[in-house]
Amino acid sequence: MNGFVVASRNGELGIGAAIEVLRRGGSALDAVEAGTRLVEASEADTSVGRGGLPNVLGEVELDASIMDGSTRAAGAVGAVRDYQHAITLARRVMEDLPHVTLAGPGAERFAAALGMDRTTLLTPASRELWRTHMVERLGGDAEAVRSLLALPDRADDEPAAVAGHVRRMLDPNRNTGTVNFIARDQDGHIASAVSTSGWEWKHPGRLGDTPLIGAGNYADDRYGAATCTGHGEVTTRCGTARSVVLYLKLGMSLVDSLTEAALDTETLDDPQSGGIEILAVDRDGGYAAVITGADRAEQDATFVHQSTDMAEFAVLPRRLISAEAPPKPR
Ligand code: GLY
Repeated sequence: MNGFVVASRNGELGIGAAIEVLRRGGSALDAVEAGTRLVEASEADTSVGRGGLPNVLGEVELDASIMDGSTRAAGAVGAVRDYQHAITLARRVMEDLPHVTLAGPGAERFAAALGMDRTTLLTPASRELWRTHMVERLGGDAEAVRSLLALPDRADDEPAAVAGHVRRMLDPNRNTGTVNFIARDQDGHIASAVSTSGWEWKHPGRLGDTPLIGAGNYADDRYGAATCTGHGEVTTRCGTARSVVLYLKLGMSLVDSLTEAALDTETLDDPQSGGIEILAVDRDGGYAAVITGADRAEQDATFVHQSTDMAEFAVLPRRLISAEAPPKPR
């Protein structure tokens, strides 16, 4: 059986490494971790790992999760600072702890105990984007605003102040990238990985769908796997990744499962949501991806695929799913 990997478009950086793992006989789990790590290490991607855009206070907080479809073991970390390979930390949570999810200082403590390298995640380029956006949206001197928000003796009224700033920082043209990888290895096992710096200028501690198993990530060898990018609040509320796999379990086709899950997110009234993407595979080796939100689709509506017998990855289109013009019943 040929192994293969699918990834969100920004996963093109890592798909070659993931395929190499499969070619050497490695597991789907190793493949998705290897691919994700390369995207996390890239400063050019401002939605994942090092170089990711920061929260409202200018601090980069990473979310990631990984799931092994052969056992349904899963690991996740949320709001992690100072460690760029959140996906590896998530995997270690899965493998070393009797837990699925660690967040914030506890996750950082675990990373330190493992001897993982501390990294400055905020690059000068991402810091400048944050500073410019702050000045534009809040007015005045961004450094002064940051100092104000960080003052320990303002702890009592800080929550309201920070929440107000988050609302004022909301960007209608939000960058809501995240990286998704799903791989199937030569033994037919499926694994999935998702990593992100999350909603830029978010409230500190905000977790998106990425570290929530069932929302942004789900894998089960018996039926398939699904991963999400885009506005995590709606995929969290809809349990989107798990929904796709459940529809597969109920016998729906891959495209119908994706369409149903995407349409469900469209029924939510969330004015902040510019849309979402879902990438999925089924147990028979089928793969497909969808996107909601016409504006979002205009920016990029593609994903990447490569199997172990392909020299290069292929760029493939996502189906645009819209509640106004739902696809004809199949
Ligand atoms: N889907 C990534 C996030 O909302 O953080």
